Amino acid sequence: MAGHGEHITAMVRSHAAGDDAAFYSVALQVAAREARVGHHLLADDIKKTVDASRKSTPRSNVTRLTQPRGDLAELVEISHPEVALRELVAPTDLISQIRQIIAEQRQRRTLLDHGFAPTHRLLLEGPPGTGKTMTASVLATELALPMFTVRLDGLLSKYMGETAGKLRTVFDAVAERRGVYLFDEFDALGADRAGNDVGEARRILNSFLVFLEQASPESIVVAATNHRSILDRALFRRFDAVLTYQLPDPRQAASVIRTRLGSLAIGLSLAKLNEHTHGLSHADLVKAAEHAAKATLMRGETTVTRADIVDALTARRQGSVG
Ligand SMILES: Nc1ncnc2c1ncn2[C@@H]1O[C@H](COP(=O)(O)OP(=O)(O)O)[C@@H](O)[C@H]1O
Ligand SMILES: [Mg+2]
Repeated sequence: MAGHGEHITAMVRSHAAGDDAAFYSVALQVAAREARVGHHLLADDIKKTVDASRKSTPRSNVTRLTQPRGDLAELVEISHPEVALRELVAPTDLISQIRQIIAEQRQRRTLLDHGFAPTHRLLLEGPPGTGKTMTASVLATELALPMFTVRLDGLLSKYMGETAGKLRTVFDAVAERRGVYLFDEFDALGADRAGNDVGEARRILNSFLVFLEQASPESIVVAATNHRSILDRALFRRFDAVLTYQLPDPRQAASVIRTRLGSLAIGLSLAKLNEHTHGLSHADLVKAAEHAAKATLMRGETTVTRADIVDALTARRQGSVG
């Protein structure tokens, strides 16, 4: 059957690299292919085996990483997110941008073999609570990759040379250990923190950009920022893709609330909440929905009322908009 050979090659390659995540991801691709041709029992078996061995194998790669290998352990936090793309509520064009990135990464061997790099340097920008960090988790989940969140505080040092050395350590890992590398609140790199003056901060940002330029396409580097305005335009060109996040429109707001209410019955029209959801982020809406759900359950009921939701949204608004 076409494709078998490629899957086996990919599995051998990931086995040799000790890359469990990639290995299982290929196994699941095989399962998906079998399911498509009607071999559901086999597909199920493969999935179950993968699940079982994922649970039983000690995360060898994690151990390897958290054990001092240079100072990488101090610089990144490793996680294994489980957030599916369908959980992300966003405009269709943003969703298709993300789908495209996932597709290119899945086919990266083919692209690389022909001299094309998959999209692997992403800038995510937009207001807080709109899904930037969540998107990094989605990419890691959908590609079955570990996520490495870079600790900017650990990275920034008073001494430029030290910071550059640490950046090098992180980007060495980008090349050696396939994963999603998240530089959250990345604008801090170009700001005068850690007692750096403006010129110094600029040099740190420049050194990041030099590393970014040479970053291995084996991993995805995600830089996220809430402050688009402080980044200069030239910087946007250094990324393969810029993803822009916005506050949810009324329909998206309703969808975020509905999803978070889970199995509870909804005793109101979510479409008629515009004046209460306006200006709130996805994260605010999630928290308000959680608040309303808990209030309902603690009254001994399972139907959320309009008052529950409106109260929770009003409290959020006062908290966040002030
Ligand atoms: N676009 C979105 N769709 C669904 N839930 C979202 C979205 N954006 C944020 N959330 C919820 O809010 C939480 C925090 O969002 P996060 O991704 O950290 O925001 P950001 O990084 O943009 O500040 C998420 O874990 C998720 O529960
Ligand atoms: Mg974030």
